[in-house]
Amino acid sequence: MSAPSRGLSWLVLGANGQVGRQLARALQPLGEGQALSRAQCDLSQPGEAARVVRDHSPAVLVNAAAYTAVDRAEDEPVLAGRLNGEAVAELSEACAASGAVLVHYSTDYVFDGQGRHFFRPEDIPAPLSVYGKTKLAGEQAIQQSGVRHLILRTSWVYDATGHNFVNTMLRLATERDHLRVVSDQIGAPTWAATIADTTALAVHAWACSGFDAERGGIYHLCSRGETSWYGFAEAIFDKAVALGQLEAEEIPEIEAIPSSEFPQKAPRPHNSRLDVSRLESAFSLRLPHWQEALRQCLSQGPTRHNS
Ligand SMILES: NC(=O)c1ccc[n+]([C@@H]2O[C@H](COP(=O)([O-])OP(=O)(O)OC[C@H]3O[C@@H](n4cnc5c(N)ncnc54)[C@H](OP(=O)(O)O)[C@@H]3O)[C@@H](O)[C@H]2O)c1
Repeated sequence: MSAPSRGLSWLVLGANGQVGRQLARALQPLGEGQALSRAQCDLSQPGEAARVVRDHSPAVLVNAAAYTAVDRAEDEPVLAGRLNGEAVAELSEACAASGAVLVHYSTDYVFDGQGRHFFRPEDIPAPLSVYGKTKLAGEQAIQQSGVRHLILRTSWVYDATGHNFVNTMLRLATERDHLRVVSDQIGAPTWAATIADTTALAVHAWACSGFDAERGGIYHLCSRGETSWYGFAEAIFDKAVALGQLEAEEIPEIEAIPSSEFPQKAPRPHNSRLDVSRLESAFSLRLPHWQEALRQCLSQGPTRHNS
């Protein structure tokens, strides 16, 4: 299983998602691989997970596919549970049987968001929402399967394309003069490219030690630093103006509001701080600060028309 001269064979699921798209780029230097879309592997269908592992027999399977519609999951718990729980169990069992390593993404939403501390990977999960519960079920299925794995919990994901907070803010800047943005949920916005690049580095480092069992497990992978959605919105507009993508006069007035004034179907954790030190020390990495990653993402070009 250690990396031969032709590298590691890899397979990504969720090719058209924010993280999946970036993985298809970032994993290239590891070896030959392929990224499959939902059309090529529909995880809602029992048996599909086992089929793709059998057909492709990758050394490393990276699962970026998930049911990510947090509010809709409250009305579709069965489908969310199917994709985030049962399909992940099938993937884990198939990978365990074939000897493949499984890399999977989870979320800050597995925690209850109490307190002001940075949650560590070993802290006890207590999800508030259906989405969080189904993602926790996926984590547990992986752990129970005995597959060699990395479960990478991340938070507040954005990219230049896709439905995310950055693109929503840039679009709203062209439509509204006044925005109300929640200021009492604290976390770290994380660029999908950071997730993909860090995944590639961690997989490579792990492959070089023969995927030893000691380094498998749960890690937190998000940007360094912290902010609120309000602080994130301010930074998006500041950087977009600095990069010449928005005129200063276009920036809407932003009003900081509590979560109670922005009701959403699924409850959100107030504290989404994740401690990344275990990942950094296990794989000799340093995660970027969220402000720097945001500047880099925005500097790659205008994104306002993407959402
Ligand atoms: N987004 C966040 O803020 C956030 C925060 C914390 C953790 N995470 C986790 O990070 C991972 C990646 O998230 P992301 O932001 O890249 O999500 P995303 O952009 O919503 O992508 C999810 C992908 O899953 C695919 N998918 C949905 N149903 C499927 C099915 N039945 N079969 C196969 N594929 C299916 C989607 O396919 P289509 O393109 O065809 O719809 C999409 O490409 C997920 O595990 C998520 O739970 C995300």
